[in-house]
Amino acid sequence: MDVTGKLWLAPLRGVTIRAFRETFAAAIREAGFAGAFAPFIPANPGIRVNDRLLADLRPFPFEAAPALPLVPQVITKHPDAMRELLRAFRARGFDRADLNAGCPFPMIVRRGRGSGLLRTPDVLEALLAAGCEEMGPGRFSLKVRLGVASPDELRALLPRINRYPLAALTVHARTAKQMYAGEVDRARFAEILAESANPVIYNGDAELDRLGDLPDGVAGVMVGRAFVRALGACADAGDLLRAYIARSREELCGDVPVLGRMKELFTYWCAVPRWRRLWPVVKLCRSVDELLSLIE
Ligand SMILES: Cc1cc2nc3c(=O)[nH]c(=O)nc-3n(C[C@H](O)[C@H](O)[C@H](O)COP(=O)(O)O)c2cc1C
Repeated sequence: MDVTGKLWLAPLRGVTIRAFRETFAAAIREAGFAGAFAPFIPANPGIRVNDRLLADLRPFPFEAAPALPLVPQVITKHPDAMRELLRAFRARGFDRADLNAGCPFPMIVRRGRGSGLLRTPDVLEALLAAGCEEMGPGRFSLKVRLGVASPDELRALLPRINRYPLAALTVHARTAKQMYAGEVDRARFAEILAESANPVIYNGDAELDRLGDLPDGVAGVMVGRAFVRALGACADAGDLLRAYIARSREELCGDVPVLGRMKELFTYWCAVPRWRRLWPVVKLCRSVDELLSLIE
């Protein structure tokens, strides 16, 4: 399958945030991404939408057409609270939104959010109905796992999901129990692809070179970790890292959160030969200036 024009940048909380998207915007465009999904924002009843999280939703800084769309994402189990957040997205000019039904963390799942929604089909349906109504047909999407514990859970729900006119069904082809490791289940993915009434986006391969042999009919491919890692191998990675630090310094208060953000990036870049030997030193850095002094 030719993935040209079909790549979507995955939402990675704490990583593919606004400062990241803006710093690496040119690389994101050059890599052929059609757009990006933003990390999730929670929607809870009685709790005002967090302005800081909303401020993270800024469209890509490209003036020239075609613009790269950014799709904001919500994590919730409350249709009314979700509607409120979707209205806030719309007020900021976003005409698409995505629902997270894939987050695998046990505490989230136990509380019926993220992939826990796969265990409460009525709640999932209420959210899909509210999302499609609030955003309009073909403007709301769903990101899911194959299941929580079994890779057959999503398939059993598909007839119900198929009732809603989604922009896309993004399938991370693992169970929540697998978290982020272990084999992706491409056979189960192919079944979902064949039976979905909505366009299907494939997600889950940590290696970019495996994407060519996806089945025809896949509407898109979402890539996260492999792309973040690949950025570390760019010729101008050092300059980009300095720019990311500068942008983060403007946005955050003090060295600690800036260092935290950079260490998060290094958990990906440490796989790249150029940065590997720095990783043990970076982990111990106590100030941003110390980190800057290490970047060649
Ligand atoms: C650090 C981290 C943060 C993530 N944050 C989100 C998120 O906010 N929303 C979401 O739907 N998925 C999130 N994911 C899952 C990714 O979007 C993606 O489904 C997963 O990493 C598999 O794709 P990849 O191998 O291409 O990265 C996150 C994953 C990681 C590792």
